Amino acid sequence: MHELSPEEGSIYGQLDPSRIPQHVAIIMDGNGRWAGKRALKRFLGHQQGAESVQFVVETASRIDLPFLTLYAFSLENNLRRPKSEVSFLMKLLKSYLIGNVKRMNDNNVRMNYIGRTHELPPEVQDTMQWAMESTGKNTGTTLTLALNYGARTEIVDALRKILADLTAEAHSNGCSLEDLLGAGALDRLDEPDISRALYTARMPDPDLVIRTSGEQRISNFLLWQIAYAEILITDRLWPDFRGIHLLEAIADYQRRERRYGGLGENQTDENVSTLEPADQVADEIKQELDPQSHPALTRR
Ligand code: FPP
Repeated sequence: MHELSPEEGSIYGQLDPSRIPQHVAIIMDGNGRWAGKRALKRFLGHQQGAESVQFVVETASRIDLPFLTLYAFSLENNLRRPKSEVSFLMKLLKSYLIGNVKRMNDNNVRMNYIGRTHELPPEVQDTMQWAMESTGKNTGTTLTLALNYGARTEIVDALRKILADLTAEAHSNGCSLEDLLGAGALDRLDEPDISRALYTARMPDPDLVIRTSGEQRISNFLLWQIAYAEILITDRLWPDFRGIHLLEAIADYQRRERRYGGLGENQTDENVSTLEPADQVADEIKQELDPQSHPALTRR
């Protein structure tokens, strides 16, 4: 394994190795602004953004982060950006994969993709397939690129898959889909079934989502999977983001208390029981609302 830089090492040294997140997902934003600030064309921002990808992936692999998912190209990017920019991003992806597969192998990184990748240009799909196969035996960080990805479409695709599987099951049982649903298949459908039908079926949900360039939104990214993720938004633009910033984000994550809708570690039954009993609180509220106890406020 390669070494962390001394600066990275000093942040890593302060982390609790038992609480490294299993999965970090990043919304890479700000390539255009990075270029604009330097009076450069947008495509140079994307090119610089691709450099950041490799730096961050390598730091992730050095700390044994199991899953890193990067939002590289959304369905909306595909539909709403000028054709020239989309075509540049496709070329950049292809050359990124060709240029970095060796480094992925050196760092034990396995490539994976999510999204409607079958709609990407065939030559890009070929290169993606080649990169995935070439890194398929690696056992370190799984790098997932979200490409032509939208979370709502992912949920639509999951529902289609569930219905198609149920239809096939009905046919193989010699009955109709209606019969199968009537016999309880609908009632048995639960959250793990939906999770298993998503593109991310074999991955844990992200523990931490990072968004660069300061925008406070999720932009249709992993909506189902981030239900309980911690979210960190940094003003830093993606082309300026490095491994050290990933480590700082993980340090911030480790300072947070994750509660999953519960009470958290410091809130035990014991200190809940020291709270005032509910009927006492109800009496206090009633008294507070009673006009007689506030004569100055009483209407004449
Ligand atoms: C957002 O910047 C970024 C994208 C739309 C694409 C992300 C692509 C890369 C990081 C480079 C290529 C990636 C790989 C994996 C090779 P923006 O253009 O929306 O920036 P802006 O909001 O400042 O205009």
